[in-house]
Amino acid sequence: MTPASTEKLLLALFITLQPILALQCTLSEIPEDGQLNFRRLANKYGLSCEEHDVTTEDGYILKLFHIPGDKARPVLLMHGIIDSADTFMIRGNGSMVAALARAGYDVWVGNKRGNRYSRRHKRFNPDIHKEYWDFSFHEIGLYDLPAKIDYILARTGQTQLSCIGHSQGNTVFYVLGSMRPEYNEKIKLLIALSPICYLHHLPPPAKNIVQAWPFIDRLFSLVGKHEVFSDFSLETNVLKTLCTAKGSYELCGKGFILRIAGLDTDELEPDFLPIVMSHYPSGTSRKSGTHLLQLGLKRNFTQMDYGLQKNLAVYNSVTPPNYDLGKVAMRVALIVASNDGMCSLTDVKILRSRLPNVVEYRVLDWSKFNHIDYVWGRNMDRHLFPTVFSLLERFGDESKGDS
Ligand SMILES: *[C@@H]1O[C@H](CO)[C@@H](O)[C@H](O)[C@H]1NC(C)=O
Ligand SMILES: *[C@@H]1O[C@H](CO)[C@@H](O)[C@H](O)[C@H]1NC(C)=O
Repeated sequence: MTPASTEKLLLALFITLQPILALQCTLSEIPEDGQLNFRRLANKYGLSCEEHDVTTEDGYILKLFHIPGDKARPVLLMHGIIDSADTFMIRGNGSMVAALARAGYDVWVGNKRGNRYSRRHKRFNPDIHKEYWDFSFHEIGLYDLPAKIDYILARTGQTQLSCIGHSQGNTVFYVLGSMRPEYNEKIKLLIALSPICYLHHLPPPAKNIVQAWPFIDRLFSLVGKHEVFSDFSLETNVLKTLCTAKGSYELCGKGFILRIAGLDTDELEPDFLPIVMSHYPSGTSRKSGTHLLQLGLKRNFTQMDYGLQKNLAVYNSVTPPNYDLGKVAMRVALIVASNDGMCSLTDVKILRSRLPNVVEYRVLDWSKFNHIDYVWGRNMDRHLFPTVFSLLERFGDESKGDS
């Protein structure tokens, strides 16, 4: 039996067992906002939304959502790992997309290669070709971002745009700025929400996940699993069943998600969890996880480590090279929170010391603010948006050349 059919068999078994699980935890109806895709969700909250397909140099076809606004003020939002554009919209009227759109910004929301909206390629079929899944945040920074940035600048007639990244949605900009320095000029400002770059001062349990990853990675690799957390995978279905059931808040919310992200029950209330877990996670490559967690193990911001022989072939060196953060000349505003379980202030301090153009370093006031409050928080309008808007106004809205 092939690994793929083993997974299908397990999935079928799981679906068969679902009624038993359901009996135990009484599956609840998924609220409407959990059932709508990005575009329909935006429409529900009174925002018009266009869809654009952007093709990268290496053939990936990516979905960009666009909420049209003032063309002179384009903003690109980039989500984190195993996530999608949905993350910036699921709070409805309280979401980042709604807030930016109502303030008149021209809002563009990206989807990284491999997620539910960007699972397409000119030549490869993601279901058949494992080459499709041969990417990490490296390729996302190297190819996805330039394609999106150039597309947005062409459509708006601007020479620069502002960017907001969440979590690994920042890492990709550091790759871009260091590997393709000509793009630094195209970015007015990067607002780095929970900036992930160095990962060797993580607190537990995130730290334990990093340490356990080589083992999980081997397991996935043995069963030939190149795509992880896709909408139809076993791991996503198990997670969704456990986390959208009635009464799942203790186990899945407090016991799992908030344990890793940082405990803040005020900002993620029980009723909202099923909506979150209807949109999250979204698929990516196993290699994305591997590369990200290697940063923690290697204690540096390095390119993918393939092992001695392939490193020699790819890099002409036994160890992978570090990304040169000194070349990331774009303006960066680092926004951090002391209760963020996945982004330690010590790691951000290292990042801050190595980036040449940090214009702001801000620890958010709300002491319980955690890793996911940046996108899903109930009161982002109070805890986060004032900081974002003041930064956009200070650095983003001025015309080029003022700096
Ligand atoms: C969202 O906010 C807008 C503007 O404040 C309001 O008109 C609309 O009714 C709200 N939509 C929902 C579904 O709450
Ligand atoms: C990480 O890389 C930087 C830049 O190349 C180097 O200066 C530093 O010593 C490295 N840190 C560790 C812990 O190896």
